[in-house]
Amino acid sequence: MSKYWNKLINDIEPYVAGEQPKPGQKVIKLNTNENPYPPSPKVKEALENFDLTTLRLYPDTNSTDVIKAAAKFDGVSEANIFCGNGSDEVLAICFQTFFEKKALTGLPVLMPDYSYSFYPVFSEFYDIRRQTIPLKEDFRLDPDDYIGVPNCGIVFANPNAPTSRAIAVEDCARIAKANPDSVVIVDEAYVAFENEYESAVSLINEYKNVCVVRTLSKAFSLAGIRLGYAVGSEELIEGLRRARDSFNSYPVDRLAQKVAEAALLDKDYYNETRSKIIATRTWFEKELKELGFTMPPSSANFVYAKPPMDCGTLYQNLRNKGILVRYFNKPVLNEYLRITIGTDEEMKELLDAIKQEVKNAENS
Ligand SMILES: Cc1ncc(COP(=O)(O)O)c(C=O)c1O
Repeated sequence: MSKYWNKLINDIEPYVAGEQPKPGQKVIKLNTNENPYPPSPKVKEALENFDLTTLRLYPDTNSTDVIKAAAKFDGVSEANIFCGNGSDEVLAICFQTFFEKKALTGLPVLMPDYSYSFYPVFSEFYDIRRQTIPLKEDFRLDPDDYIGVPNCGIVFANPNAPTSRAIAVEDCARIAKANPDSVVIVDEAYVAFENEYESAVSLINEYKNVCVVRTLSKAFSLAGIRLGYAVGSEELIEGLRRARDSFNSYPVDRLAQKVAEAALLDKDYYNETRSKIIATRTWFEKELKELGFTMPPSSANFVYAKPPMDCGTLYQNLRNKGILVRYFNKPVLNEYLRITIGTDEEMKELLDAIKQEVKNAENS
């Protein structure tokens, strides 16, 4: 509390990011869904060839070269893309652009409970009413739950986080079709890790209200440069630009633009790393099940697993051994660990530690 803060800042409960190790601390970090593999070798090349003298100049407002590369990657036109400083920023701008403030409408933005915990924070921060729609008991999002419910917009992650489950693109289309006056944001941070890659980008020509949000943080191994983008109809993209140019004309720096462009142009490397992660996940899920864990089928670079012992104790004991996984200490969520898929070696080390913990719990 501070008398210098306004009411909003005094009242808000900010988003809490996953724990970051202290500089120099050696841990196995499986708590923020980063990619265990380095970025594409083309990124290294781009950095080596980067002309430092250009840093004295402001970057390109629109990130034109990134947009060109993303348009090629997704098979859409350049006018359908908007870039921002990480997909968190793109999502924040989407909330500001497409959803209406409480004072102007009684209608809520619809979002699943449970989903990415930044969505409720954005709705508080931008003073937008929200209505959470429970997932089914098996953590499935049912599109029917988003039909016939008055709203000023819809947002969900597909695959969802932290639950790791995905819905089919046809289901996204059903939601968009049933809500023609609202923007439907499909946050595809983890789409690259679905067994059968399917993106709602294929919907944007038919459904002018679909806005797909992407990030380079996960599948492109570039969490450190902060680059996200939105894909949607020209009308939606123009709205996002208007919002951006009303608070920061240069959200993406020159280095990030160069690096992102290089990564997006190397689709072979992207496919190689995502296949490796899918293979490790498939093996890891099987191993966990053999140890008595239960989990929804994952389409992401993490699993959402319920251990056969007290979850908080397991989380803490792993942490004490230098292995960080994500634990949300809230009802229902506190029965599960969200575990990022690392390299095979990291996952084997984690598995050994888990086996020991399960054994100790059985003997106690
Ligand atoms: C569902 C979801 N959307 C968006 C983000 C944000 O990603 P970025 O690094 O692009 O801000 C995350 C990060 O973990 C996420 O889980």
